[in-house]
Amino acid sequence: MTDKTYPPSPEMAANAHINAAKYEEMYASSVADPIAFWAEQGKRIDWIKPYTNVRDVSFAKEDLHIRWFDDGELNVCANCVDRHLPARADQTAIIWEPDSPDTPAQHITYAQLHDKVQRFANVLKELGVGKGDRVVIYLPMIPEASYAMLACARIGAIHSIVFAGFSPDALADRINDSEAKVVITADHAPRGGRVTPLKSNADAALLRCEDHVKCLVAKHTGGQTTWVEGRDYDLGAMMEAAATDCPPEPMNAEDPLFILYTSGSTGKPKGVVHSSGGYIVYASMTHEITFDYHDGDVFWCTADVGWVTGHSYIVYGPLANGATTLMFEGVPTYPDAGRFWEVCAKHKVNQFYTAPTAIRALMGKGTEFVEKHDLSSIRILGTVGEPINPEAWNWYNDVVGKGKCPIVDTWWQTETGGHLLTPLPGATATKPGSATTPFFGVEPIVLDPQTAEEITTTEAEGVLCMKQSWPGQMRTVWGDPERFYDAYFSQYPGYYFTGDGCRRDADGYYWITGRVDDVINVSGHRMGTAEVESALVAHAKVAEAAVVGYPHEIKGQGIYCYVTLMDGVEPTDALRTELSNWVRTEIGPIAKPDVIQWAPGLPKTRSGKIMRRILRKIAENDVSSLGDTSTLAEPAVVDDLIANRGG
Ligand code: WTA
Repeated sequence: MTDKTYPPSPEMAANAHINAAKYEEMYASSVADPIAFWAEQGKRIDWIKPYTNVRDVSFAKEDLHIRWFDDGELNVCANCVDRHLPARADQTAIIWEPDSPDTPAQHITYAQLHDKVQRFANVLKELGVGKGDRVVIYLPMIPEASYAMLACARIGAIHSIVFAGFSPDALADRINDSEAKVVITADHAPRGGRVTPLKSNADAALLRCEDHVKCLVAKHTGGQTTWVEGRDYDLGAMMEAAATDCPPEPMNAEDPLFILYTSGSTGKPKGVVHSSGGYIVYASMTHEITFDYHDGDVFWCTADVGWVTGHSYIVYGPLANGATTLMFEGVPTYPDAGRFWEVCAKHKVNQFYTAPTAIRALMGKGTEFVEKHDLSSIRILGTVGEPINPEAWNWYNDVVGKGKCPIVDTWWQTETGGHLLTPLPGATATKPGSATTPFFGVEPIVLDPQTAEEITTTEAEGVLCMKQSWPGQMRTVWGDPERFYDAYFSQYPGYYFTGDGCRRDADGYYWITGRVDDVINVSGHRMGTAEVESALVAHAKVAEAAVVGYPHEIKGQGIYCYVTLMDGVEPTDALRTELSNWVRTEIGPIAKPDVIQWAPGLPKTRSGKIMRRILRKIAENDVSSLGDTSTLAEPAVVDDLIANRGG
């Protein structure tokens, strides 16, 4: 890691919302008197009924609760749409860039968005959806995905988006866990020139769901689908027929806005619940300040709305700020590795926000793909999802940003709703690979993982926790409050445990060192190794499986599987392919194993616990430092795994 610093240019410091002095002053006041600070910041949102209680939080086991602005009432959709009218009626709210560059882009104005969202909301009402009901959204990156989110918010329904790359089984699990009334999908999803039969995935999922779950289908490619009369509804026809007026439902600040399933270190993905009031205050504030968004800018976050990044920084944050937000259906390498830059040039993007894995993939294709396009509109670059290695940072800075655009390396999580650690473009001198310093109101602390004591020296290395709540914090795990406590507050009582390790340097900058639990980060997608293991052992020929992450040049981490077969089953290459495809079908393409190693036995302690630490070392090819192996029940197992590494 390099400690070269990149201070903001004088011009950036002069024109940005926040400069270094202002950051210091505001940060100090945000932690000295958080109630006063957030009482003020909450005003960035329009309230139907103003709040008087700003914060009511306890991280204690007996009394765990997180509430912000909790006697206030608002409607998130009205904040993202109605309140920008009539002033921004003709301003573009959403630029939609389709998968194929030959299909024309769409510019949806705030007035058009208002119309679409109200009609959509009326369609949902017609299907019997009301306040508090759950709606699962399983859509490609098309404008309907944003309409669907905002329509739910308008009537107080709770949406749960399932990434279109997930399998029917994964979709069914989420529909069932959230007890959704309706699932919204589209005929087909084109991506990178290939097409996923989304509706038929939904059909397969619905076979595993209650009969009363309805399916609302958007026509996108016009591709063939089967139709179940009485269960399937045609979104286009219903929108056309729908009433154009749908008043926003007044919601309590603490009413859930959405559920988003994410992977944990154990068991099935958990439904992260976000609130209405605190979430929208936090998403809009971080969007404006981290990206130094100014009126008239065109903002592009390349994430999918199926992930939290898409929720906060394609839809809610930007639209709450009256921004123009770009929504891209495709992939960075289709039709060629210049697509991102072509789109930036075409729509004169001012802030560009992507993941290190995409930067690494494009870096390998050469600079000519970048240089052909005019990127002079870009002012700020951002990254998210995993630590960015200095090579990728430098390439992003030099080749894409031409050394003139600050890079905001934003550290946050599905659970945090918005950025917690991040440079601010006009305030923070950046260091390649560091997420730098906390956002307003955020109080990170580093704990010694062994003693659970706070490390108070400036330079520190340990696990990253948060001392205080912030408005965007998740409120609970859907249907499982005990799991909420167990997953985030049980390890280090009194603190929110992030699951990440970190180092704090002499300047007080934070460097994320990666997950300290069994969560891995594959191409910026978060995955629990337990999920992949349970998919593997669900195969009839598999007796046991252990899955770990290992460093992967492009993906950040790859998926390394140790598989013990049932007695008598031949370990063949054909079986390896079969298992790989099996995981792909069980979870989705993002979970496809990179390596499957046959393991006649797994290293276990005498009490039968798999020693993952050793498996990680072998996968990383770091076998000289296996650490303490004295508790192994059968040491010979390890020698075999080392000898047959990768195979
Ligand atoms: C990792 C994505 C280093 C981290 C918003 C975290 C990062 C997990 C960064 C959350 C970053 C995210 N630097 N690591 N800038 N951003 N991470 O829930 O391990 O999909 O805990 O949220 O991604 O992933 P999630």
